[in-house]
Amino acid sequence: AKPLTLSAPGKAILHGEHAVVYGKAALAVALNLRTFLRIKPSNNGKVLIHLPNIGTSVNWETFRLRTLLTVFSGNPEQMDALKEFAGITTELSAAESLGTLAFLYLYLSISAKYGWSEEEMDLINRWAFRGEQVIHGKPSGVDNSVATWGGVLRFQSGKFTSLKRVPTLRILLTNTKVSRSTKILVASVKDKILKFPAIMNPVLASIDAISHECESVLEAMAVSPSQEYYPVLEELFDINQHHLNVIGVGHSSLDNVCRVTATHGLHSKLTGAGGGGCAITLLRPDPLMVEAARQDLSACGFECWETSIGAPGIC
Ligand code: MEV
Repeated sequence: AKPLTLSAPGKAILHGEHAVVYGKAALAVALNLRTFLRIKPSNNGKVLIHLPNIGTSVNWETFRLRTLLTVFSGNPEQMDALKEFAGITTELSAAESLGTLAFLYLYLSISAKYGWSEEEMDLINRWAFRGEQVIHGKPSGVDNSVATWGGVLRFQSGKFTSLKRVPTLRILLTNTKVSRSTKILVASVKDKILKFPAIMNPVLASIDAISHECESVLEAMAVSPSQEYYPVLEELFDINQHHLNVIGVGHSSLDNVCRVTATHGLHSKLTGAGGGGCAITLLRPDPLMVEAARQDLSACGFECWETSIGAPGIC
């Protein structure tokens, strides 16, 4: 069998992280930063899976893949059998989209072809979701959906809508290199909501409104691109970053990203689970401003990538 190369986009959540776990809207974007996976089946009963971006290879026994495949396509209650898989994905979790890619492989092991129908894509997405469940506990499903389908998605209560038109929008993704557990952060937000429902629920409602407002702005921007939208998008970033601090998922490293980028007139917020991890900075079409911000962020020990939103999904 010949080697296959597959790829999936990275993702960022523009707005709605954490609130999405409580049925609020999230706006998620696929980024033009891709994870590649090269799969080389052999006849010695093993399959070499190589992730060149993160310099990792695993040699899986074919029978192990078949067992996982059976569990995945069969009884979803058999989560215990997936613990073995959790070990592998944790080791490789530097690639956000690995879940999608791994399950794509499992899928390929039965269908062995390129190009998928909508139903097949949906199946891949559901398998990736199960991978997320093993790692994160009770994920909303936003991450696997955007990595599978690409583009810009509004995700709410397990369902998503793809934005028909996506504006050109550049983003600086900064990795603070502070590690954190999504599972623990999601649980800490839950505790806070249970402790202070009357205080926290309005914050979640406000985040929901921010996602909707941002969606309207992106739609308008796609129809008639104009500089006038940037201040609105930037203000939404600022408000949401404050909200995320209120619900307890901020971190001093993320505050640093916001502070450093603000000195260059740029606006940032955490993206994803928070507590460290990554921040996104909205970029205006001015390369000089970006380069100076990048240098200052690198001097803090952070790693940055300049990218744009609306990349294609798995392919
Ligand atoms: C993590 O990328 C996003 C969270 O909202 C968790 C989830 O939606 O499953 C924090």
